[in-house]
Amino acid sequence: MNAITALPKFELPTIFVIFGVTGDLVKKKILKALYHLYRKKRLPARFRVYGFSRRDYDDEKLQTYLREIMESQKYKDPEQFDAFLAAFYYVKGDFSTKSAYEDLAKTLGRIDGEWSICSNKLFYLAVPPASYSDIVTNLHNSGLTEPCSPEEGWTRVILEKPFGTDLTTALELDTQLGTLFKEEQIYRVDHYLGKETVKNILVFRFSNSFLTPSWNKNYIEKIEVRLLENLDVQSRGDFYDKVGALRDVGQNHMLQLLGLFIMDHPYKFIPEDIKNKRSEALASLHVMDASEVGKKTLRGQYKGYHQEKGVDPKSQTETYFRIEARSNLPDFDGVPLILESGKALECEMIEVIVTFKETPLCLYGIEGEQKNTLHYHIRPDEKITMKFFAKKPGFSNETAEHELGFDYNKAYSKELFVDDYESLLFDIIRGDQTLFVSTQEILSEWKFIEPIIKTWRNQNIPQLIEYEKGKNIEIKS
Ligand code: BG6
Repeated sequence: MNAITALPKFELPTIFVIFGVTGDLVKKKILKALYHLYRKKRLPARFRVYGFSRRDYDDEKLQTYLREIMESQKYKDPEQFDAFLAAFYYVKGDFSTKSAYEDLAKTLGRIDGEWSICSNKLFYLAVPPASYSDIVTNLHNSGLTEPCSPEEGWTRVILEKPFGTDLTTALELDTQLGTLFKEEQIYRVDHYLGKETVKNILVFRFSNSFLTPSWNKNYIEKIEVRLLENLDVQSRGDFYDKVGALRDVGQNHMLQLLGLFIMDHPYKFIPEDIKNKRSEALASLHVMDASEVGKKTLRGQYKGYHQEKGVDPKSQTETYFRIEARSNLPDFDGVPLILESGKALECEMIEVIVTFKETPLCLYGIEGEQKNTLHYHIRPDEKITMKFFAKKPGFSNETAEHELGFDYNKAYSKELFVDDYESLLFDIIRGDQTLFVSTQEILSEWKFIEPIIKTWRNQNIPQLIEYEKGKNIEIKS
């Protein structure tokens, strides 16, 4: 065995192929993640990146384009830019043109020859889902995703949400992926699972014994998942209008968060067990009929949405929603699970709030006003706070609300933090699928969401409410 093949698998020479290298995802997330991994020496010592796109670029032009992004976003340590960017090459091609993939296969074969090894290959589809089918078919047919052997030269395909636009299209995509690749080759990204605070949810829940006995319907009154944003749809009107808030963030990020809060304890902390339990939690969500959708959901649209570029002037697309879901998991049966999200609201906060029931006998304080809550803050704050009650000093037993808290940013230096995409890319390289979404999870998410969207769109139940931009929606519960 030579020195190279004796390396741990994730350190073996690796080629990254990024489809849509000149697109938004690379600009906002992937480039930075790769660069951070490079700075932290978490990329294999030998790596190359082939950027695939339609633009009339060459290697030099791609590197200049990426350098401009790195400079404008003020990436750290500019003296390392040259060495990092020297690993980038360009492939001009149309995603549907077979010959472009055959050429790419020849190029990668040549590199493997130069390196005297069958390198690992990672294909990142940073493109709109409409291109997925062409790309995966061509990747497969050109032999690019065929590993050299079970032990040598793994190949992995990475896709981003949305996975389909409904249950049928999600199934179609999945069936196609399943016929072309093995499950261990497919990495479905929901970037929320890579966030530092989100990765902590299970650790927090299952490492603190005081939570264990109270984490169920006997003690929990409700769980609220909120993804409230103050930005409007910005330049994404065209995309957003076809999708709406529920499909944009509800079907994926928010249900994943909810799943982590209600799932059972995995038998072991290994990928299969964690994913199975997450999947069971999502499958346990009660699928609503039209009458329940009318009673348990709300949808809204901010005033002025119709004037956004790319939006249909008669659009009924929701920019806000609130859903009261239920799970049939024995521990959470009957507990309201509330999902709320919107654009152009007053506040910017992504959090999960667990409200506990009051003590059976409210000896002190005012009945109905003494509920403990656990606030799990994901963005912009990254902290956990718990509200509890204590006696005010003095002669009476009057109570006052207080807070216990842990703030990531106060407790740890920023340098230790790993960004969502950085974390996910590292896991892809080392072959850990824990933080990636399975087919079962995606299908359960669609099964829950689809009847709601259908009732909203086809029956106009409940009616769309209009809200002022920059204001929160007050819900009387
Ligand atoms: C994306 C949605 O998936 O998630 C956006 O398309 C949303 O509309 C975003 O703003 C929120 O993600 P983050 O990482 O900014 O909290």
